[in-house]
Amino acid sequence: MDLATPPPDLYGRPGPDRFLRRLTAFSDWYTPILGAPGLRRSPRRRAPRPAAPLTLAVTSRTMVSADVVELGLADPAAGPLPPWQPGARLLLTLPSGRERHYSLCGDPADRYGYRIAVRRIADGAGGSVEIHDQLHPGARLTVRRPRNGFAFCAEPAVLFLAGGIGVTPLLPMAREAERLGLDWRLVHAGRTAEALPYTAQLRALGPDRVELWADDRRGGPPDGAELLSRAPEGAAVYCCGPAPMLAAVQRALDASPARALHFERFGAAPIVDGRPFTLRLGAEGPELAVPADRSALDVARELRPDLPYSCHQGFCGTCKVNLLSGTPEHRDRRLTPEERAGGALLPCVSRAAEGETLVLDV
Ligand code: FES
Repeated sequence: MDLATPPPDLYGRPGPDRFLRRLTAFSDWYTPILGAPGLRRSPRRRAPRPAAPLTLAVTSRTMVSADVVELGLADPAAGPLPPWQPGARLLLTLPSGRERHYSLCGDPADRYGYRIAVRRIADGAGGSVEIHDQLHPGARLTVRRPRNGFAFCAEPAVLFLAGGIGVTPLLPMAREAERLGLDWRLVHAGRTAEALPYTAQLRALGPDRVELWADDRRGGPPDGAELLSRAPEGAAVYCCGPAPMLAAVQRALDASPARALHFERFGAAPIVDGRPFTLRLGAEGPELAVPADRSALDVARELRPDLPYSCHQGFCGTCKVNLLSGTPEHRDRRLTPEERAGGALLPCVSRAAEGETLVLDV
């Protein structure tokens, strides 16, 4: 039995069954109150403490396309690693202190090694360049345990859509789809054929199921309808790529043979209903105008490039700052009501009403 794989739930989906878990918790708590004879109240379970981060060593380093490096990571004491499922990510703390998320792209059955792949972005914020230039075998990293916000549900028919390095979470999903005998297809799109990582592995996995799309040979990127035309009837679509690709797929979904869309975006989400507002950096600090189409974080980083960030999508919490005054529009998916009431703000996505001034404690 593969202990790394949780038992299927009531509907055959991987992962523990949420309904049974909630029913059990309800029963534990309320049965004594309802007066069931002979039963004593279970002690209330404490919320589990967050697991300690891991210290991992870089064990290998392989270029998997012109500008993508794959790193192998393992426990320096050669112990087993926490299990994961396709779609999971690691949060790495780099030697500089920068934090970055990367999807696991190896084999979940391998309990002794993780693999991630990183595209070098020369004009980015420095995380990918640091990884490419400084992480060699033997380097140690602090790594938070795998977390999964993009779980693979193993539907009978599946279309995977990858934009460039967005193939990394889809690679283990495609392996799993092939192992389970699902009807799957994968389109991997990028600017040039040389820029696409893992082409050989994908072709080996399903020569008739994988299509590579190089923009320079096809006259430009595929549109949403073109991508979704590869979907088997009733397929679930798993899409990971840049925001324009995802937006194109979302727009074309209703008119396609596909019936569901799961996605993971990299980079910032498009700003919806943004209004211009003002940001002040510190009580006496400079005031900056935030236009309707830019994030507060991007504007603040022009003066304060040291401000940390990672996901740029309001879920990792890396960019958290404290608000000294002003009324924000919270648009994140991370902060609790208590944290918001205490003044926490995620400026990568959160904004303010037109004319408002947010004063940040930075
Ligand atoms: S960068 Fe991740 S929440 Fe802001």
